[in-house]
Amino acid sequence: MRRSVVIYLIAIFLFASSCGGENSVTVLKLGHGLDSSHSVHKAMVFMAERVEEESNGKMRIDIYPSQQLGSERELLELLQIGSLDITKVSSSVLEGFEPLYKIFSVPFLFQNEEHRFSVYDGQIGRELLDAGQSIRLVGLTYYDAGTRSFYTKDRPILHPDDLQGMKIRVQESPASLQMVNMLGGSATPISFGELYTALQQRIVDGAENNPPSLYLTRHYEVVDYYSLDEHTAVPDMLFASQFTWERLTDGEKEILRNAAQESAIYQRKLWEESTNEAMEAVQEAGIEVVRPDKEPFREKLQPMYDEYAQNEELNSYIQRIEELANE
Ligand code: GCU
Repeated sequence: MRRSVVIYLIAIFLFASSCGGENSVTVLKLGHGLDSSHSVHKAMVFMAERVEEESNGKMRIDIYPSQQLGSERELLELLQIGSLDITKVSSSVLEGFEPLYKIFSVPFLFQNEEHRFSVYDGQIGRELLDAGQSIRLVGLTYYDAGTRSFYTKDRPILHPDDLQGMKIRVQESPASLQMVNMLGGSATPISFGELYTALQQRIVDGAENNPPSLYLTRHYEVVDYYSLDEHTAVPDMLFASQFTWERLTDGEKEILRNAAQESAIYQRKLWEESTNEAMEAVQEAGIEVVRPDKEPFREKLQPMYDEYAQNEELNSYIQRIEELANE
């Protein structure tokens, strides 16, 4: 079935299912692509509970995980036409909608977790959530997604040269595509939900992601090596549709914003546990973990840094983010 037809059918389903007799309850539908055992899903369940409590049952969030309602790009499109209320996507996928979001895909931009959090929680984080307005999205919060590294079949990636001749799945993200190609691989955009089969059938030789995604999507069953070069730290971001937002009362907006914020803090606690659990489990299952020297990766990406330095807006964000690391 054509993608546009699928989106249309989902839009009709969502509209029909929001026309129930629950007049006194504001029901918000949230779709996302992660598994229900993922820390980000659990955090959103926590947010739904907080919203229900704080509104005395007058607001409810129904969550549809695992790409039930579409890929991250399709979910964003549903938000833009007002057929879905909330979604959580990787910031990488937003680049196709608003190029400023490339900022989070700049390789080796963040020094560590503390540095990332200072960006999400501060003025820069607020500005980048608000940048969603230009594409009819209301930014609510960030969920941490750790760092992304290569996982591959046949051989580990100890040096960028090892990527030569390898097809590597990337998200639908121009910056990730450019990064993998520049490192020497052959970048292939595939949606998250189709990746297991793509790895299994050798449509690609590898992918790149954080430990919980490698583990919870069972990609570890169809790859052999996990090479921790930690090239990017791309957050997950939570957005509401501008159409939905305009329908909410000021009180409802506040309840939703606060609950989203609380859920982000809650998710950070779960993230560490879930990363440790994932690293243990994949190694137990036979994945070989290697830790390459990051310098050759950085060096190979110099033309990408040079290109970004020419872009005034991106360059100013890069400078401000780097300055935060020194504070
Ligand atoms: C991460 C992220 C997801 C995204 C996935 C991907 O796991 O949390 O939102 O879909 O990466 O690589 O597609």
